[in-house]
Amino acid sequence: MTADVVTTIPEIRRRIEVCRRSGRRIGFVPTMGALHAGHGALIERAVADSDFVVVSIFVNPTQFDRKDDYERYARSFPEDVALCSAMRADLVFAPEASEMYPASLDTSVNVARVSEGLCGQFRPGHFQGVATVVAKLFHIVQPGRSYFGEKDAQQLAVIRRMVADLNMPIEIITVPTVREPDGLALSSRNRGLNPTERASAPALYRSLLAAKHLVENGCTDAGQIRQTAASILGEESIVRLEYLEIVEPDDMTPLDRITGPVRIAIAAWLGSTRLIDNVLCVPQVR
Ligand code: PAJ
Repeated sequence: MTADVVTTIPEIRRRIEVCRRSGRRIGFVPTMGALHAGHGALIERAVADSDFVVVSIFVNPTQFDRKDDYERYARSFPEDVALCSAMRADLVFAPEASEMYPASLDTSVNVARVSEGLCGQFRPGHFQGVATVVAKLFHIVQPGRSYFGEKDAQQLAVIRRMVADLNMPIEIITVPTVREPDGLALSSRNRGLNPTERASAPALYRSLLAAKHLVENGCTDAGQIRQTAASILGEESIVRLEYLEIVEPDDMTPLDRITGPVRIAIAAWLGSTRLIDNVLCVPQVR
């Protein structure tokens, strides 16, 4: 079966209304397309949990801090619809930018604090763009549950905070990061790596694993852990580190001393491609 493709807000509202009237549980997977097995894991989880699964495919212009990045972003719509269909999603919502933003917005969602560090520091306006488009999509799709990848841990924290603060009746489900066999986290941006960059890219996860090993073996000094991870990354001369931070897992505030579970998050550039990754670390109780 092919998933139905809907491009307008009135049409998807009509379909959602029919589902709600028949009491079907709606699961929602927001994406920007160029789908891969990471997105597939979210869809699979949604299909297992719900009676009607909506996948949105929308490259959201307002979350890009650079116009060229928006224009260069990978797009593969026919393959995306084929994947959604193969995974038994029911409906693909793929609006044009003019459907989502018919006029400039006077209203936006700004999730303070949790948006400020890590990627928020380097991509001004990014999380405001994400929170606003996800809020709009939530109002359009009205899901009971929505699925997000742990790969984008700060985005997940922003969405959780928005849902809690604005009393949105939606359960946010976290799906673990899907990786290539060599550890590289799947990402639509991996398509932009040339063979040399692709060969160096697993260093991100290697450095995170070394840091995790230290935390799990009792090291509590964030500075020392950052240094170890950075030196592993430094072995790959083409990797340019943007940040490597050890943060509190819920509100993403940076930590100097580790006294409980932490998330270690990294962003790095390989040529003109920016990659992010993170791991959760739980210190052993001794
Ligand atoms: P996109 O980058 O397409 O990602 C859509 C969802 O897939 C996100 O929840 C992301 O965390 C998840 N995902 C990506 N790679 C993954 C991987 N390797 N393993 C598991 N999950 C993975 O994130 C966005 O789009 C946008 O910001 C969006 C939320 C759609 C708002 O525009």
